[in-house]
Amino acid sequence: MARPHIEPFVDRDVPFKKLTLPGFPKGMQYKMLSLDPDNGACTMTVLFEPGYKQPPGMSYSEYELFIQSGSIQIGDKVWGPGSYFFVPAGVAIEQLTSSRGATALLFFNYGEPSWVESETDHPLAERQRFRAVNSYNDLQWSSTNFYPATAPGCMVKVLAFDERTQAFTFLYCMTPNFWQDNISYHDCAEEAYHIWGTSWMMQFGDLPTGGYFYRPPYINHGAFGCKLGTLALGRTDSRLYNHFHFNPWTSLEENKERAASRVQHWMPDLYKWINTHGHNHPVDFEFAHGHAHGDTAHHHGDGQVDHVHKRKKRRRR
Ligand SMILES: [Fe+2]
Repeated sequence: MARPHIEPFVDRDVPFKKLTLPGFPKGMQYKMLSLDPDNGACTMTVLFEPGYKQPPGMSYSEYELFIQSGSIQIGDKVWGPGSYFFVPAGVAIEQLTSSRGATALLFFNYGEPSWVESETDHPLAERQRFRAVNSYNDLQWSSTNFYPATAPGCMVKVLAFDERTQAFTFLYCMTPNFWQDNISYHDCAEEAYHIWGTSWMMQFGDLPTGGYFYRPPYINHGAFGCKLGTLALGRTDSRLYNHFHFNPWTSLEENKERAASRVQHWMPDLYKWINTHGHNHPVDFEFAHGHAHGDTAHHHGDGQVDHVHKRKKRRRR
């Protein structure tokens, strides 16, 4: 099972807890926003306590870090609010400290949080995919280039794009009095966190500052609107396509049926080939290791590098 549907959730309603996972230094606190119980992938709000110090190290899982308030220092450089890091599995970063503390969002997309001290990358690490940018200062807003598009007034800054899965992470804003009157669903899961502002969704009500959702594929959402403006961080786990419609009563099955029939019309040859030749497990010659989502038990995707699970001893049957 993947992550459950969580919507709406507001992190202001729950207290921080101490993060005591093996390997992580003391001084980090967290609020769990969503968790995949099978592989440990999760999204958290985290608090680095003043004086936090983390030696150089790496994670076995890909992670993303977005600074909301305060600042952290990595090596010689200080990173304030809006700073974003995409750290592929096994990529080592320099010492991380926070002298006055910071709050951040922390995403482990494919596996449980892990941390080991290391000055060097794991041999399988894809260092070229590492990214660090201050998204508030150094990126411009652009209109969404999705088709069919969201209504005007919703703008994005793309922070990370995975060429293999087309998953992407983006900062987005809604202008005051933004509204969109149709209903949408996607073939991907999407999650979002409100850094500031309140927006309204027909099915789920108001989502205020600190609000979060994790929404699996094919769930109807919309109409939606925003009275005073919103700044948020969003992420999908694969390609985002807006299946728009106006019937609030369609079921997940009906939404899937319609999406599948669209694929049949868009890519008839591929659709037929997949259906008639038992090709439900195509070989990916471009990306050699494993499945894109890392969701099979025997094979890590590119979001996780191989390692020995020391803590988990499986009982023999
Ligand atoms: Fe959506």
